[in-house]
Amino acid sequence: MFDRYADEPGAYPAVLDLALSNRCNLACVMCNGGLSSTIRARREGRPPLPAAYDDRFFEELDEFLPHVRRFQFKGGEPFLASENRRIWTRLLDLGLAPEVCVTTNGTVWSDEVAQFVERLRMDVILSVDAVDPERLKSIRSGVDPDRLWDNVDRFAALTSSVGARLELAVCLMAGNWDQLRGLLEEADRRDCGLSVIWVDGPARFGLLGRPADELAQVAASLDAQVTGSPPLRSDLEQIWSDVCERIRAAGTSGTTGSETARPVGEEVAVSVGRLRVEDPVDVVRDRLLQAGAVPDFAELRMEDEVFTEVSSPDWAADLALADWVGRGFDETMLLFGQQPDSIVRAQMESLEGGVHLAQVEVTAETGSSLDLLVAYVPPRPQQSTSWLIISRRAD
Ligand SMILES: C[S@@+](CC[C@H](N)C(=O)[O-])C[C@H]1O[C@@H](n2cnc3c(N)ncnc32)[C@H](O)[C@@H]1O
Repeated sequence: MFDRYADEPGAYPAVLDLALSNRCNLACVMCNGGLSSTIRARREGRPPLPAAYDDRFFEELDEFLPHVRRFQFKGGEPFLASENRRIWTRLLDLGLAPEVCVTTNGTVWSDEVAQFVERLRMDVILSVDAVDPERLKSIRSGVDPDRLWDNVDRFAALTSSVGARLELAVCLMAGNWDQLRGLLEEADRRDCGLSVIWVDGPARFGLLGRPADELAQVAASLDAQVTGSPPLRSDLEQIWSDVCERIRAAGTSGTTGSETARPVGEEVAVSVGRLRVEDPVDVVRDRLLQAGAVPDFAELRMEDEVFTEVSSPDWAADLALADWVGRGFDETMLLFGQQPDSIVRAQMESLEGGVHLAQVEVTAETGSSLDLLVAYVPPRPQQSTSWLIISRRAD
């Protein structure tokens, strides 16, 4: 992704990948409050994130802008963030013409949006996770399907008129794999690209983490879907066959097949083995003990991925776990490192049943360090409670 900017190494970054605000009008089921202000307020019941970028940031950014060859804007919803509009306006004022790519939920369309897309020749990545309107609404909560597809057409027409690219981005999950063929057909119809995002967290949405027999059925259903249907553009057919192959491989090997699901090479010194989780929290406690953990666990309960209750033994005092209540699971690594100048190193492996195990080392400024085994236990189907179990490793 970045090698093509390596030809003229300079003193300034060539690519800026910016997520300046979490302001978003949607509450997608697989997303979190760090990336959506709507989720943060409604699902997580947390106060808004304070604006992080002040006037000084934009003044300092001025020095960098002429050197940047590609900007990527994410969010939040980029077309709702005044921070982004400020940068786009500045680029135009300075007469700069870098590559600009925006990942959007496609719900915001106005003359102003159209002008930015046109004048900055923006490449647009538009997220859409289903063709069936009800399914789309159930995943991308807050979306109006008809308006969204109208906007897809508008973005398609505008990007093509200025020689920019439109790509649909599909989060592939346990709840929407059957929508992929239809989405590829939409991409074909609009002559745009499509990229697949393999969602593996929160674990309950992950497709490749499903049991092998279920994956084998998914692969068979996908084969049946395509029988007799007209072929698509060759690059889209390639995406389809790559997806089917990956699901088939995961189904037959009995592994999860995802990149993150593999132990991180030889470096993961501990494995609790493969789990078929029946009573997940108990099973995970047992397995942590077998893996050499000391039995006095710290346990954190989460509702909808927000920490709600903590039991913390004395040894965990430095982690200040009581302060984690009200914070999100997505902030876990940040919370481990909240002591000034501490360093957190983590290696994670993904186990069956959506359980994740991490080996975490927290080194404080003073040089003292905690060597931890941390297990994440996902919610059971249709439930919202998940757990983080933190244990010390025995010497
Ligand atoms: C967080 S959104 C921000 C940009 C914009 N609001 C949008 O929806 O495209 C960026 C991308 O992340 C995807 N996404 C959301 N939740 C995800 C998850 N749990 N794992 C992987 N990608 C996810 C979205 O579908 C979208 O394509």
